[in-house]
Amino acid sequence: MINTHNIPKAELHLHLEGSMKPTLVRHLAKRNGLIAPENIFAPDETYIWKDFLDFLKVYDQATLMLKTTQDYRDMTYAYLEESAQVNTLYAELIYSTDHALLCGVSIEDSLNGVIQGIEDAKRDFGIEARILLAFVRHFGVDSCVNVAKWAAANPHPLITGVNLAGDEIHFPAEQFSVAFRIAADAGLGCTAHAGEMMGPESVWQAIDTLPINRVGHGVRSIEDNKLIEALMKRNITLEVCPGSNIALQVYADFTQHPLRRLKDLGVTVTLSSDDPPFFATSLANEYDNAVRYFQFNEKELLEMTRNSLKAAFVDENTRQKLLARVAV
Ligand code: ADE
Ligand code: ZN
Repeated sequence: MINTHNIPKAELHLHLEGSMKPTLVRHLAKRNGLIAPENIFAPDETYIWKDFLDFLKVYDQATLMLKTTQDYRDMTYAYLEESAQVNTLYAELIYSTDHALLCGVSIEDSLNGVIQGIEDAKRDFGIEARILLAFVRHFGVDSCVNVAKWAAANPHPLITGVNLAGDEIHFPAEQFSVAFRIAADAGLGCTAHAGEMMGPESVWQAIDTLPINRVGHGVRSIEDNKLIEALMKRNITLEVCPGSNIALQVYADFTQHPLRRLKDLGVTVTLSSDDPPFFATSLANEYDNAVRYFQFNEKELLEMTRNSLKAAFVDENTRQKLLARVAV
């Protein structure tokens, strides 16, 4: 099997709060004088949860240990350090201001930590990263509109996009069109989870009602030929996270997962890790699995990295510099 270690990688879909390993969560709890939620930790640096909605609750419990700017900085730096070690050139970090507020940390204090983590990691490892603000569906339409308005009023060069996350089952995409309009008008890149827990109709709704040119997951688009055509015609990039999909039982195993079929049909696919310790994965593991289970060759892996960089919410100058590092 090809060794993917030296393949340059890029990640478009990573939930920052979902990147914390139990060891880090325990460390933050201790530092903040809190009791760590031991019942959600599995022995192998992963988490215990039952299904998608339970996963979202466990995710919130881990997140609640974040209390200071330093915590946000350390979380960001830990993820970027590990990513750089496996030749990740670029990462987009989905960061939830609403979760920060739930933790009792202001947007400014948490964001300053994330920014510091990005700057420190760039200085130490050369890795580039950008921030996407989360619109969390189950926190409601008003929260998402508030996030969008905050983003429009507080531009920052490292905040380059928004991503609709959370409970796709009970909160359909079109409800969030106003929040997306505000974000798009402020010049932010827009993407949305869809076709993860729900079928093709959810992807149609997202691409027809939101100003997006990427879809988080989108894998269940494979069930609808017309949707596949629409994704290609509209140049929509899928942020595919196979390890997450299998952990969440969207597919029973890798043989059922449509990554290879989507690619062969001509859909623009990329690889990401979503919430790595929750799904016992990492970006390096996703590249390995693309070889092991989907027979991607080196050229195809490089093509996926280039697809990520082409669809990245980053300035053109940085994009071209990064693309120049991924020779085909
Ligand atoms: N928030 C964190 N991870 C998520 C996922 N995989 N889907 C939807 N919302 C999320
Ligand atoms: Zn996600």
